[in-house]
Amino acid sequence: MLMPDVDADKQNKLIDPFGRTVDYLRVSVTDRCDFRCVYCMAEEMTFLPKADLLTLEELDVMCRRFMAAGVRKIRLTGGEPLVRRNIMQLIESLGREVKAGNLDELTITTNGSQLSKMAGDLAVAGVRRINVSIDTLDPEKFRRVTRWGDLNKVLLGLEAAKEAGLSIKINAVALRGENDDELGNMLAWCGKRGFDMTIIEVMPMGDIGTENRLDQYLPLSRVRASLARRFTLKDIPFRTGGPARYVTVEETGQKLGFITPLTHNFCESCNRVRVTCTGQLYMCLGQDDNADLRAALRQGGPEALDASIYEAIGRKPQGHDFIIDRRQSGPAVSRHMSVTGG
Ligand code: GTP
Ligand code: 5AD
Ligand code: SF4
Repeated sequence: MLMPDVDADKQNKLIDPFGRTVDYLRVSVTDRCDFRCVYCMAEEMTFLPKADLLTLEELDVMCRRFMAAGVRKIRLTGGEPLVRRNIMQLIESLGREVKAGNLDELTITTNGSQLSKMAGDLAVAGVRRINVSIDTLDPEKFRRVTRWGDLNKVLLGLEAAKEAGLSIKINAVALRGENDDELGNMLAWCGKRGFDMTIIEVMPMGDIGTENRLDQYLPLSRVRASLARRFTLKDIPFRTGGPARYVTVEETGQKLGFITPLTHNFCESCNRVRVTCTGQLYMCLGQDDNADLRAALRQGGPEALDASIYEAIGRKPQGHDFIIDRRQSGPAVSRHMSVTGG
């Protein structure tokens, strides 16, 4: 496997045209998923042919070239990252860089379905924190929202993750008429178990079949106001390097994050880019412009890859144009969240 020298290039940070330093890489290792969440995917999905995927070795080289360019945090996403065959190979390789101090964090965003069997290995590999997507604690609703998911399996996975010593954050997408009445109870449930929680506004990405975003969309300003009737929320400057703004919940002592791409744009502090499982680099979650890193790597090797990365960062856009209202409830970008992993 190619092992570029991470230390030698540490000075060459990735700085975009708006002066923002990119030090957070999100890598979608597969577009496949064993769930079909109603806000994320249509029930019938056509996934990419396996032959188009970057190999695990190529993904590793990509991550290392980004690290050489100053990336300090890598998050593996999907689809569901833990369903990619032999994914532990990549996780172990990058985990060694965490242990060596070359990466501050290697994290994973997962639906939790594979955690009961994989949590222990993740912790040993150097993962310290994971984000698990759970939008409801009602098994029937969970089945409806994920279409294919089994809440009990996910809950067992959370137990395993806790036992393995992983810090856990629960991601819940706020869904009007679906979980709005439940978010307070979920927050209390997380508090009891020592989990942090983040609530997310639904974003108009990809065709979701018969579902309508306008019906799903719930502005977090309303969610916060409703939670504030039951809990004492205090704004804090805490940041993970992700887009959430945090409050502490006095009653439980945990942190609660709000991710509000629609009601409160956070693009001015954007520090991240995404690589898809086929090696396309997206400079913004909400824009279509991308760079073909797979072609650069396969045709020109690591040096061409570097050149392609720096060139692409030079055209990172200022922000997204997400909007959900009566005139526009269709997708702002045609690809699904599962292509770029959020
Ligand atoms: P932490 O490291 O725990 O802060 O994670 P994170 O919030 O960066 O990652 P996670 O994968 O848990 O993402 C939570 C939500 O934030 C998902 O719905 C993502 O799609 C969304 N998100 C992450 N980055 C961006 C971004 O740059 N723009 C927008 N609009 N949403 C984002
Ligand atoms: N809008 C907001 N969040 C979404 N996610 C998936 N699709 C969407 C969407 N359209 C969330 C998942 C997961 C995270 C990676 O992104 O629930 O928590
Ligand atoms: Fe799968 Fe996550 Fe999309 Fe749900 S939100 S279908 S778990 S990728």
